[in-house]
Amino acid sequence: MTADPPRYFERHVFCCTNVREPGHKRGCCAEKNAAALRDYMKAKCKELGLAGRKLRVNNAGCLDRCELGPNLVIYPEGVWYTYKTEADLDEIIRVHLIEGGRVERLLLQPQDVLPRDRDKRSAAAAS
Ligand code: FES
Repeated sequence: MTADPPRYFERHVFCCTNVREPGHKRGCCAEKNAAALRDYMKAKCKELGLAGRKLRVNNAGCLDRCELGPNLVIYPEGVWYTYKTEADLDEIIRVHLIEGGRVERLLLQPQDVLPRDRDKRSAAAAS
């Protein structure tokens, strides 16, 4: 078997900015300000010198975790985050992308399908 070529980008961040019609039962990331937040993240990474072959921030279509959005996934780690604000993205950039840690409060676990799944986990962790 031939080895994979080296990665073109060290890291790749995919931010869902999918748009659905208003009132769709799953909602969409676009209705939660995802495009503006993606623009912010992209600009911030560039400003911090992270852009280029080290890191690429891209738009993504629906990542199929709409109810938890806006969300993003970082590869090659395969780590998912939900976020709401520029401050959330600042924390993801600093803690995950720069320091190599994880922003626990914003992480999505594989079993998280709906917001209530995260709420249950938070409640269990607090007790
Ligand atoms: S609309 Fe963003 S994950 Fe589906």
